[in-house]
Amino acid sequence: MDRIRIRGGTPLKGTIRISGAKNAALPLMTASLLTDETLTLSRLPELADIKTLSTLLGQHGVHITPNGHAPEGGPTGRVMDFTTKAVTNTTAPYDLVRKMRASILVLGPLAARCGEARVSLPGGCAIGARPVDLHLTGLEQLGAEIELDGGYVIARAPNGLTGGRVVFPKVSVGATENLMMAAALAKGETALINAAREPEVTDLGECLIAMGAEIEGLGTDSIMIQGKDRLHGAHHAVVADRIETGTFAMAAAITGGDVVLQDTRLDLVEAMKGLLTEAGVEFEPVDGGFRVSRRNGPLVGADVMTEPFPGFPTDLQAQYMALMTVAEGASMITETIFENRFMHVPELARMGANINIHGRSALVRGVRRLTGAPVMATDLRASVSLVLAGLAAEGETVLNRVYHLDRGYERVEQKLAGCGAEIERIRG
Ligand code: UD1
Repeated sequence: MDRIRIRGGTPLKGTIRISGAKNAALPLMTASLLTDETLTLSRLPELADIKTLSTLLGQHGVHITPNGHAPEGGPTGRVMDFTTKAVTNTTAPYDLVRKMRASILVLGPLAARCGEARVSLPGGCAIGARPVDLHLTGLEQLGAEIELDGGYVIARAPNGLTGGRVVFPKVSVGATENLMMAAALAKGETALINAAREPEVTDLGECLIAMGAEIEGLGTDSIMIQGKDRLHGAHHAVVADRIETGTFAMAAAITGGDVVLQDTRLDLVEAMKGLLTEAGVEFEPVDGGFRVSRRNGPLVGADVMTEPFPGFPTDLQAQYMALMTVAEGASMITETIFENRFMHVPELARMGANINIHGRSALVRGVRRLTGAPVMATDLRASVSLVLAGLAAEGETVLNRVYHLDRGYERVEQKLAGCGAEIERIRG
């Protein structure tokens, strides 16, 4: 298993190009199940999760073929064609779904196009129970019959789905996406109330519109969809990865560096920008991105609570905690989206961080310096928080279980090394 070795202490300086968003790419790929024409997606990141979903889609009958690379000078990423002339199999099996929870996103498109879907329940996950009840009750509102059998969810709508009113009791990114895709092929109008407003949901909605769907209210908590008999092919470029953007902004901040983040947008990370500004980090818009630096004075502690978009994202909580471990003063970090999302805390503590957990909050008291250590992580964002800590720590940090990192960060060590970080992958 690969490991990553870091020698900390070098301020990052240079330019990092941000990839297309993993969390937008995954639902966009499943949207290809909604049409028999070709959906071309550009700016796809090369990540383990993208490969896992490609394998799953392949066994549903989606033909995936490369369509070249992005043009020189533009955003990086691959261009791929997704063509589903016919859905050959409506079952998403356990051995693929268990690798990645986002596989549940095939449920809505399969039920809408085929009138039937059989998807394994994703099962437990390292960051909490993460149920899929909102996806299922939503589909029921669109007329599907839902049955659980042998660990599988079976959704049936032999005469097709019909539009309905879905009021989510809780904001869910995945359920909003699943329902939006299902409603695009349902008969009549669907209203999604208390819908997620995340940029990845909006990106999916814009792609569906390019495929012929009629959708209003993207980016608000009420999304209205007029169902269509069929959707057609389209070309769509994946939105910039705001979590990768935020992660590298914090990498610049924790090392006292000065970095330009290219091919991304400040408006995707407004909440983080506000918080980091309070903590002493500077932001400056530049053409095609922004510059982030910490040149004047120390980091200072600032409290935060994770919230659905436009609030501060749970997917940046671990990275922010790493940043706060070396800030002056204390900060209270409260996780409201997922239970059990503090698994990075004992590992950060092994590097000298002073953190106390009280229920859903962690009190971080800044220390003067972290010291390198062998560490390992149990999920994607926790892994990268340890990379950030390693970049700031004295001495050597070795991160084990790098496969978590590879699920969601494209060439992370190359991007950081390009800004002067002493970081390398040890194959094995
Ligand atoms: C997506 C992101 C993930 C991010 C999360 C929250 C993708 C592929 N993943 O995950 O990186 O951390 O949004 O921003 O886009 N819930 C239920 N019942 C459900 C569904 C969700 O109770 O049926 C709960 C979850 O347990 C969680 C909360 O709702 O507490 C939000 O989850 P949700 O927004 O659905 O997250 P995902 O779409 O799985």
